[in-house]
Amino acid sequence: MPEVASRQHLGSIGAAIEAAIGEAAIAWDAIDGIGVTCTPGLVGALMVGVSAAKTLAAIHDKPLLGVHHLEGHIYASYLAEPDLEPPFLCLLVSGGHTSLIHVRDCGNYEIVGQTCDDAAGEAFDKVARLLGLAYPGGPAIDRVAREGNPKAFKFPEGRIKLPGGGFHPYDSSFSGLKTAVRRTIERLQEEKPDAPLPVADLAASFQEAVARALTKRALRCAEDLGLTKIAVGGGVAANSRLRSRLQEGVAETGIDVLFPPLKFCTDNAAMIGCAAVEHLQRGQVSPMTLSVRSRLALSDVGSLYA
Ligand code: KG4
Ligand code: ZN
Repeated sequence: MPEVASRQHLGSIGAAIEAAIGEAAIAWDAIDGIGVTCTPGLVGALMVGVSAAKTLAAIHDKPLLGVHHLEGHIYASYLAEPDLEPPFLCLLVSGGHTSLIHVRDCGNYEIVGQTCDDAAGEAFDKVARLLGLAYPGGPAIDRVAREGNPKAFKFPEGRIKLPGGGFHPYDSSFSGLKTAVRRTIERLQEEKPDAPLPVADLAASFQEAVARALTKRALRCAEDLGLTKIAVGGGVAANSRLRSRLQEGVAETGIDVLFPPLKFCTDNAAMIGCAAVEHLQRGQVSPMTLSVRSRLALSDVGSLYA
């Protein structure tokens, strides 16, 4: 409910800013600029943040930096690895996105792979619902999967067939994987209506299929583009099996894989600050006329700066 979300933002933003400044114990003099998410999302909620940021920038005479939410996820790895330098490949896996992004430089992004239906996080949330687990589904599946056998069920890897034969090397489909889990649950319930569902085995096998698919595509993509670093971002970057599988996958390849600290995988403000710092260091600042956008292609982030 966009109207309710906007009102809640309005009711919380003052206290959130005060708490952040208080906890960081930082003086306004020590702050170099004000970064704020301005796209993509619900315009009402974005407007509350942008209006607050503009007001702070005007009062304290600081540069204003509008930030694309996905750019924040790309830069979350800087919180673990401040010296990370482009070029690198970003595997961005959140509730709304599953993308392989070639990061040539700050502001210079090319999406080279994506999902053609559900995002990885969305698949975790939908499969969790099928298994009767709580929302958000990702952390719930991650937790119960620890007790399960990842080889108990064989689920598809969500590859996309190309018209001329073969498969797309970097794109994925997670909707078919979710359907395969649903069909398996239906079959189990038909065969043994009174038996409890093997939730842990189903969760572990599903998680394994997602981790396998994402690892294979990210590695192939990094190798094809000649990139030696993969930065993972977005809520699904918190997934324990994706983290271990990618680490195993890059062993002996010469590729480094970087993850944000766990608490900075899901949405947070620190990652927006990291992206803002990168733009500020390049002398890019947003005009005070900065507006909000419900959508903006990642390749167009340059339009946010004067
Ligand atoms: O990046 P994020 O916080 O929000 C978006 O921008 O979408 O990602 C949220 C998504 C949810 O779908 C959630 O289920 C998933 O990230 N997620 C996880 C884990 N923690 C969060 N998925 C798998 N394993 C996790 N540990
Ligand atoms: Zn996000």
